[in-house]
Amino acid sequence: MRSLVPVRIDGLTSDGMGTGLDERGRRWVVPGAPPGALIATGGRVRRGVRLGLLEPASDAVVPPCPAFGACGGCQLQEMPLDRQRREKQRALEKTLGGLGAEVLPLTGAASGYRYRNKMELSFGNARYLSGEELHGGVPREGRWLGMHAPGRFDKIVNIDGCTLMEPAMELVFREARAAILASPFPVWDNRAFTGFWRYLRLRSGESGVHVSVYTAPGGEAEAAWIDAHLPSIGASGWVWVETESTGDVARGRARTMAGAQEVVTHLAGVEHSLDADAFFQVNREGAEVLLSVVAVLSGTGRLLLDLYCGTGAIGLALARGFERVFGVERHEAAVEAARRTARSAGIEATFLVGDVERLLTELPEAPDVVVVDPPRNGLHANALAWLTGCPAKKLVYVACKASSLARDGQALVQAGWRCRSWRAVDLFPQTGHVEVVALFER
Ligand SMILES: C[S@@+](CC[C@H](N)C(=O)[O-])C[C@H]1O[C@@H](n2cnc3c(N)ncnc32)[C@H](O)[C@@H]1O
Repeated sequence: MRSLVPVRIDGLTSDGMGTGLDERGRRWVVPGAPPGALIATGGRVRRGVRLGLLEPASDAVVPPCPAFGACGGCQLQEMPLDRQRREKQRALEKTLGGLGAEVLPLTGAASGYRYRNKMELSFGNARYLSGEELHGGVPREGRWLGMHAPGRFDKIVNIDGCTLMEPAMELVFREARAAILASPFPVWDNRAFTGFWRYLRLRSGESGVHVSVYTAPGGEAEAAWIDAHLPSIGASGWVWVETESTGDVARGRARTMAGAQEVVTHLAGVEHSLDADAFFQVNREGAEVLLSVVAVLSGTGRLLLDLYCGTGAIGLALARGFERVFGVERHEAAVEAARRTARSAGIEATFLVGDVERLLTELPEAPDVVVVDPPRNGLHANALAWLTGCPAKKLVYVACKASSLARDGQALVQAGWRCRSWRAVDLFPQTGHVEVVALFER
C-alpha cells in the first residue's frame, strides 16, 4: 500500500506539471495536478504521482473529455483556459527570468479545444483500465484504438472521440474506427508482436481529411477489405502503409492509396500543400498568432535565415518583409514541400537539406535576421557557436521547451547578444506545452 502525501499545488513547472509543498516543506512535482488543488500524491518527490484529489481548486471546471486522467495528453482540463494561461506565464517568468528581458503578455488562439489538425492513434488488444474499471470487471482484452497510456507501451486508452481534434477530422476518425474495429482482421498485440492493424494517422486541412492506415504486411483478403471499406469513411484521400517493423513507430511502405495524397492549408496567407507525415503546426489558428508574433519581433531586412525550417512555414510567412529567404532543414520531404510552396506562391526562397550545424558554415552571405525553431532539446553546440559570432542584427528564437531557450539564451547573452523581449504563445491549450518567441539583438 502506497502512503499518500497531501500536497497543495501552488503553480506549474515550465513544462506544465503541478508543483507544491508538502507538510515537511518538500517541493513535489506532479503531472496532472492543477494549481489551487490539494492533491494526494505518492512516489518520488521530483516525479510524484497523483493518487487522488482531496480538494479541487476554487475555479476548477469539469474536464469535458471522458478519457481525462487516463490519456495523459490534456493534463490541464480541470483549469479554465485563462487560468491555464496565467499559470503558464508565471512558470515561464521563473524559467526565463535570467535572460533579463522585457516580458510581453502571453497570447494564443481564442479557442481552447478542437484545434488539432493531426493525430496519430494506435490499435491494441489490451485496454488501459482505471482502478474503478478494474474492480468493476470491465474486460481488458478486446479491439481498441486510442493513445498509449502514459508509460504503458502495451495498454491502449480506448477513445471514440477527442476534444482536441478538429471536428471534420473527428467525423472521419469515427467512421474509420467503426469500420476497422468491425473488420475480420486482428488488432496489434504489442507483447506478442502479432496482429494486423497498427496505427491510424489523420491530417486535416481545407481540402479535407487524409487518413493513413498502418498495418503488418497483409494478403489478398486484407487488400480486398481495405479497397472495399476505406473509400466510404469520408476521407479526401487515404493510404495503406505496410510495416514489417515491430518497433512502435508509424513508418513503412505504401501499398495502395486513393484520392488526394496531400492536404492543402493556408497559413499567413501562404498556401501549403502537405504530405500526410510532414511536420506542420498542429494548431492552425494558434500558428497564425505565433507567426504574427514572430513577424513583429523579426522586423524587415534583406536576407532572412530560417533555421530548422520544416516545411518553411515561418520563412514563407515572413518573406514579404525580406528580399530573400534562406531555409535549412534536415528532413528532405519537408524541404521539397517548402520549395513547392515557395514556387507556387512566387516567393524568392532557397531551401537546403541538411543539418543546420553543418550547413551554417557554407552559407554564401550573412543574414540580417535569423529565426531559429529547433527541436525540444534546443540548439546543437556547433549551431550555437556559429550564432554567437553571427553578424545578423536580430535573432528570433522560437522555443517549444522553455528550459532549452533559457540555456541557449544564456550562452547567447554571454557572447554579446542582448535578449530584448520574449512572448509566450499558447499553441497547445489543455496541455502543459507552450511556445515562446524571444528576440535577441546586438
Ligand atoms: C520545431 S520543428 C520547426 C519546424 C518549422 N520551423 C515550422 O514552424 O513548421 C523543428 C524542425 O527541425 C528539424 N531538425 C531537427 N534537427 C535538425 C538539425 N540538426 N538540422 C536541421 N534540421 C533539424 C526537424 O526535422 C523539424 O522539422
